[in-house]
Order: sequence, then C-alpha cells, then structure tokens
Amino acid sequence: MVTFFIIKGISDVPELQTPIFLLVLLIYLLTLGGNITIILLVFLDCHLHTPMYFFLANLSLNDICNTTVTLHKVLLIGLTGDQEISYVSCIAQIYFFGSFVSDELLFLAAMSYDRYVAICNPLRYTVIMNHKICALLASFCWVLGFIEILPYAVLVAGFSCYRSNVVDHFFCDLVPVIKLSCSNTSVLKTLFIVEGTFLLVLGPLVLTVLSYIFIISTIIKIRTSTGRRKAFYTCSSHLTVVILLYITLSYQYPRPLSADSLEYNKLLSLFNTAAVPILNPFIYSLKNKDVKSALKKRLWFLRVKK
Ligand SMILES: *[C@@H]1O[C@H](CO)[C@@H](O)[C@H](O)[C@H]1NC(C)=O
Repeated sequence: MVTFFIIKGISDVPELQTPIFLLVLLIYLLTLGGNITIILLVFLDCHLHTPMYFFLANLSLNDICNTTVTLHKVLLIGLTGDQEISYVSCIAQIYFFGSFVSDELLFLAAMSYDRYVAICNPLRYTVIMNHKICALLASFCWVLGFIEILPYAVLVAGFSCYRSNVVDHFFCDLVPVIKLSCSNTSVLKTLFIVEGTFLLVLGPLVLTVLSYIFIISTIIKIRTSTGRRKAFYTCSSHLTVVILLYITLSYQYPRPLSADSLEYNKLLSLFNTAAVPILNPFIYSLKNKDVKSALKKRLWFLRVKK
C-alpha cells in the first residue's frame, strides 16, 4: 500500500539543484507573463474581440493551468526540499495534466475550424461564429478534455500494489506511475494506446488537418497574390502553434514508454511540456499585426499614465 509518492525531480546531482530550480522558475515566469499578457490584451482591446482571439485567450488560460500543474512541485521541491506528494495529489496531477493536454489539442482544433469558416465562408463568418456558438464550442472543449481523462484517473486510483513509491520524473505523469505499479495495468495500457492515440490525439489532429486542407484549397484559388498572402497571414500564427505542438507531442509520447530515466530525457520532457505554453504568446505577438498593435498601444498607454 502506498499513501504518498516521492517525486525524484529532474536530477539527483546536488550541484545541479540550483541551476535547475532557476531554469524552471524562468520557464514558469515566462509562461505566466506571456499568457497573462495575451489574456489581458484580448479582454482590454476591442480590436481583439473576435472568436479567434477569444479562443487564443482560452488557450493561454489552459497553458497557464497546465504549466502550473506540471511545474509547481519542482518549484516547491527547490524551495522546501520536500519531495513527498500525497497519493490523492499524485492522481490529481495525472488527471489535470492529461485534461489540460487534451484541452489544448481540442482548442487548436476549434481554432482551425474558426480559421476554416473565416477563409472558406467569409461572408457568413459572423453569423456562423456568433457569440453563442463560440461560447458553446469553448465550453465543449473544456468539458470534453476533462471527461476524456477521467477513465485513466479512475483506473490509476484503483491500483493497490506498488513496487516502489519513487516517481522518476518531475511530476506525477501517467507512464512513470504505471511503471511503478504491480497491479494489473493491461487495461490502462490498452486504453492509453487505443483511446489515447485515436480519440485524444488523432481526433483533434484529423479535424485540424481537414480544416487546413479546405483552407489551403481555398487560398490556392484566390486570384491575386496579395489576396492569397492576406488569407494565409490570418492563419499563419495558428498553423505555427499547431505544428509546434504536434512535433513536441510526437517527441514526448513514445519516450516515457521506454524504461530509460536519463536526466537528459527528463530535461527534454521539460522543454517539450514548456515549449508551447512559452512560445504561443510570442508567436502570436510577433507574427500577428492585431496583437502587435494592441501591445504597442497598451505599452504606450502605460508609459503615458506614469
Ligand atoms: C473562452 O472563449 C469564450 C468563447 O469565445 C469566451 O466567451 C471566453 O471569454 C473565453 N475565456 C477566456 C478566459 O478567455
């Protein structure tokens, strides 16, 4: 019987503790800063009151929650040295991390649908993507992400036998915890491979790819090159984030299934979990004219107020 787990963290080497703590703190602060800025801009600037930016704000909120779930324990370990985490908190961490990852994929799929309507059906865009539909779509994404992961949490919570309680990772992730269990994990493993691949990852991926097939075929048909560029421009930030997310996922997922626990792999996993939440606000504020001008206006506004 296990009542608590020990989170081993990224490295055992004493000399590395401070640099790792500072690195994680930097990652966390950058994520918070960037995403809070996006959320504030979307709510404060009326040019950003469109479905695309509302979804972006949802995505930013999701990124803040996700990094808080994954990184808070490493930060606490760095501050207090306390590596213990209760059984319930560990299950909760597995559940919330999984839910926020699937929410992220669903939001990106919803955003690609939004781009699809904007480019392939521009005249009816405001009718189709009205406020009610957007609110429904956003809540659907949030709720579905949380429902999809429920079976995993229930199954892990039912495990009674553990070989050890030392989780060789920097947070309670599903795979490192499964590896510790001596209960029958075959149902969970099958679920992870079948539902995880087909529903959680391929479902949103197929929707996203389909939207982009329609988007690209519409863009190709636009006669003028400025028109083509303009249409492509409105979805380039989103496409960049989508590609980045699926690349990091494809790196992250097969890896924990193999038994190695090299520090290098944990660092890689840290960068994979942190890449999208950190880069998402930067991609949107560097590549997107509306966000850029909103940002400039606010900064100018702040300076004048002082
Ligand atoms: C999420 O999206 C919905 C629908 O567009 C919007 O009403 C809501 O304000 C967004 N929430 C956040 C936190 O951005």
